[in-house]
Amino acid sequence: MGVLSKIATNNRHGEDSPYFEGWKAFDRNPFHLTQNPQGVIQMGLAENQLCFDLIEDWIRKNPYASICTAEGVGEFKDIANFQDYHGLPEFRQAVANFMGRVRGGRVTFDPDRIVMGGGATGANEQIIFCLADPGDAFLVPTPYYPAFDRDLGWRTGVEIVPVHCDSSNKFRITRAALEEAYEKAREANINVKGLIITNPSNPLGITLDRDTLKSLVSFINEKNIHLVCDEIYAATLFCSPKFISIAEVIQEMDCNHDLIHIVYSLSKDMGLPGFRVGIVYSYNDEVVSCGRKMSSFGLVSSHTQFFLASMLSDDEFVETFLAESSKRLAKRYHIFTKRLEQVGINCLKGNAGLFLWMDLRHLLPQKTLEAEMKLWHTIVNNVKLNVSPGSSFRCQEPGWFRVCFANMDDETVDIALKRIEAFVRQGKEGGENTATRKHWQPNLRLSLKSRKCDQGVLSPHMMSPHSPMPKSPLVLART
Ligand SMILES: Cc1ncc(COP(=O)(O)O)c(C=O)c1O
Repeated sequence: MGVLSKIATNNRHGEDSPYFEGWKAFDRNPFHLTQNPQGVIQMGLAENQLCFDLIEDWIRKNPYASICTAEGVGEFKDIANFQDYHGLPEFRQAVANFMGRVRGGRVTFDPDRIVMGGGATGANEQIIFCLADPGDAFLVPTPYYPAFDRDLGWRTGVEIVPVHCDSSNKFRITRAALEEAYEKAREANINVKGLIITNPSNPLGITLDRDTLKSLVSFINEKNIHLVCDEIYAATLFCSPKFISIAEVIQEMDCNHDLIHIVYSLSKDMGLPGFRVGIVYSYNDEVVSCGRKMSSFGLVSSHTQFFLASMLSDDEFVETFLAESSKRLAKRYHIFTKRLEQVGINCLKGNAGLFLWMDLRHLLPQKTLEAEMKLWHTIVNNVKLNVSPGSSFRCQEPGWFRVCFANMDDETVDIALKRIEAFVRQGKEGGENTATRKHWQPNLRLSLKSRKCDQGVLSPHMMSPHSPMPKSPLVLART
């Protein structure tokens, strides 16, 4: 008999996944422009770091909103005391308005249905706790966000049934794939309680079209199961087609709204993952009521609520921020895709998210997941880029990689791209298979001086941004 609980010891947190090797490689040897230019560049982190200047500027102009300032200290006592799990009314109103705005004003959200969670991580777990029991299952189309295994299943005991999608139709979710996964689960006596999708998709960087969304709603309606839509990237959009929320689609359909739930967060669209603002928005009254009680375990701090209520109510700021964010993301996306194309690397055409879904199938000597892992090890350890292999997203087709492009500055982007370019070129010149190359040297063309960095002397921003303990990448949230 162990001394710890089954949850504590069941390993479903996923810490042993090979995916963490890339994080470890980064944490051991993090890239820095001047102090460690030969280090590993972190391209596995879906963070939006392109618009902090705009938020900082707003903070300077609005010192009252921060409370811990001479201008705001008058609010301190009330806010420090506030612990109502309904949330500050002005926060719920501001979030509801913001959610409507990022969906082009085509839908409105009721502030009384806004339920808080600790980031989308907490919100996803919360909705699963409301909808399913241990042993029940949720269908999840692949490739999917790796931390879903942890968020949906670790503490709830709920299983994930993958719905396999592939490149033959650009990873679209088809009715046939859904039916197949559903039937297989039923044959195995698994009780399927719902389907969870991420729209826009992480890792594909695409939005789902209206027809697909309608077919998903029809599917769950016919089976009488739930549909959870993680719309965390709703405003992280940089070119057409526009994002279509499930909220819009159900307005046009005859369906049971009690089965529809949206998960949202400000981690990506506003670039504020540290604020831990997650939202469950359900059309089901019972879920709203139960979710609200559960939110006691993952409330957004009142200080953060107060600050965001003020910032998100500033229409002019929000409009400028969203437009500028989109412009900067588009620029990044185009720099990456153009330069990758020049060395023969294509990506799935994206319009959203903070990443590219990069196709390296042509670099694999065999079309196997082992070959993918081998190529990935070369990229992490030799090319020194921490990208994420498709297998970590449960992609069954070997050779796809996710590359994050918005968590670094322009100079780092240039170095990362130079490394990829040199890697591919050297592979071609040497006539040697890039996937098995052992002695590849990064930065051959760069004159920056290499200096191995001692982790202890790194400035805080050079360490993993999520980890309080730089030596332990396993505590990182997986984005
Ligand atoms: C699809 C998806 N859902 C949820 C999360 C978790 O977000 P949060 O930081 O708000 O917990 C992420 C983070 O990468 C994500 O990509």
